[in-house]
This record gives sequence, C-alpha cells and structure tokens, in this order.
Amino acid sequence: MPITIREIGPCFAGEVAGIDMRQRLTPDEAAAIHAGMDRYAVLVFHGQDIDDEQQLAFTRSLGEIELTLNTGLRAESEYRLPPTFADVSNLDQHNRPMARDDRRRLFSLGNRLWHSDSSFKAVPAKYSLLHARSIPSKGGNTEFADMRAAWDALDDETKAACEGLVCEHSQMYSRELIGFSGLTDEERERFRPVRQVLVRTHPVTGRKSLYLASHAGTIVGWPIPEARAFLRDLIEHATQRQFVYSHQWAVGDLVMWDNRQTMHRGRPFPPEEARDVRRTTLAGDGPTVAQEQAA
Ligand SMILES: [Fe+2]
Repeated sequence: MPITIREIGPCFAGEVAGIDMRQRLTPDEAAAIHAGMDRYAVLVFHGQDIDDEQQLAFTRSLGEIELTLNTGLRAESEYRLPPTFADVSNLDQHNRPMARDDRRRLFSLGNRLWHSDSSFKAVPAKYSLLHARSIPSKGGNTEFADMRAAWDALDDETKAACEGLVCEHSQMYSRELIGFSGLTDEERERFRPVRQVLVRTHPVTGRKSLYLASHAGTIVGWPIPEARAFLRDLIEHATQRQFVYSHQWAVGDLVMWDNRQTMHRGRPFPPEEARDVRRTTLAGDGPTVAQEQAA
C-alpha cells in the first residue's frame, strides 16, 4: 500500500497511512517520511503494534539514534529501558507509577512546559518518535506548536530583534520555572547550559523558525530579567491556539516530530495510572552555534 499523508492540524501535522513498522522500511518509504516531516513537522502513525526492537529498527532506518544517558534523575541502575530510548513514562524500574513526591517524577514534570527535546545538549535532537504502549484513562495529550508559523506571524521589528541572538539552554532553567529545587552539585554540573541560536533555518525547505524552549534561560549579552521577559513573550506568541495541534493518544500510536521546527508539551493525567510511552530520538546534524564561550 502506498504512503498517503493527510493534513490533520490547524496549519501543520499529518496523519500517515500505508506504513507497517513491523516491516523493514524501503528507501522510497523513508524518503516519503522525510519529505512529510519537512512539510508537516509532525506525523501521526496509528495502530503500530511494535516492540522495542521494531521501534529501534524503524528509527534507525531514518537516521542515527541519539542516546539519552544522564539526561534525567534516574540512576543507571534504575533504568527501565535501554539508553537507546528516552523513558518518558511515569513508571519506575519495576513498571510501577512513581510516587507523587518522587523527585524523578517531579523533575520529569518539566515536560509539561513547552520545549524542544534535547535543546539543552550542544547537538540538539532532530526528530523524536514517541510510541504509546499504555495510556491513562484520561488526559495525557501531547501538544505541538508550529514554530515556523510562529516565526512567519511575527512583525518585522520583532523578527529583526530575534535574528542573530544566541540563548543558553539548561534543564536547570526549566525546572526553576516549576519550582523544582534540590539538584546536587553533580547534577548541576551535568545540566550546565549550552548555547543555541534563537532563529533556525530548515536545511531543506529554507523556512525559518523560532528555536524556543522552556530550557532557554538567558540570551547572550542581555540582562537576565530582560532576556526572560523577551523569551516569555515569544513563547506566549508561538503557542497561541492557531499554531497548536493537540494529540489525543491511543495505544499503538507513534507520533514523530521535528524538534527543529516545533515545540511540544505533555498534559496532565491521573498520577496513579500508568502512562507507558517510549521515545526514540534521531540525532541532530551538529551544534547550532559554537560552544567554546558557553558559561
Ligand atoms: Fe519532550
């Protein structure tokens, strides 16, 4: 069956038919998926009954995998999944929902803020692929904001103010926003900020987009309060409902998004219920800006 993609979002997001991720992807299919990502930035695949190995094989057929060691507060002995996955579930290593006050859970609540995956790494992520194995009885949507449409809608003066700016991103900044405290010295060292340009240009389409995330806490050369107020205004602008697609999950859905062109956030759900969603991530091509002067 040939691949077809139907637009489902307000101005982006496509629903893909004709892919079975249990089968090896052909080069033509991989090319169609990349072209779909260039156009829509978010693709939804329904009814994919796949295991970890099949998700890894599908991901690898689209590019190089980004490992996710040491990006959260789980100790390696507490990993539920191999480091080829980002465990964005609310489950501990025994597959039980974490206690409400578990600091690993509280840290992960930063994902409820708008962000782009791995913007806190010097080489940030390209695509994320999230597969739903089990979902809660309600809530838990993932929302996506189109940062190309957000850029296009800015006035010329604001566009000119954004061009050339470099931000510093760290998970410490996003966790500050939700009042998470108590990071150890080792964790603070691990989460030290990296630099990212504020305006990115897509390498294929040439479209510009705002590269924002709640991880962005400073703008190089700006006073911090002014930088944060400016970034907050941009995030408010970029996440207006006309730029947002909200995905309501069903078991077997796989949603793939381009972190270079979108932000996303998770929505709340009952904390005592399991939400087993597993993310594989494609590595980006390189840093967006030189790092040597990073704080
Ligand atoms: Fe995320």
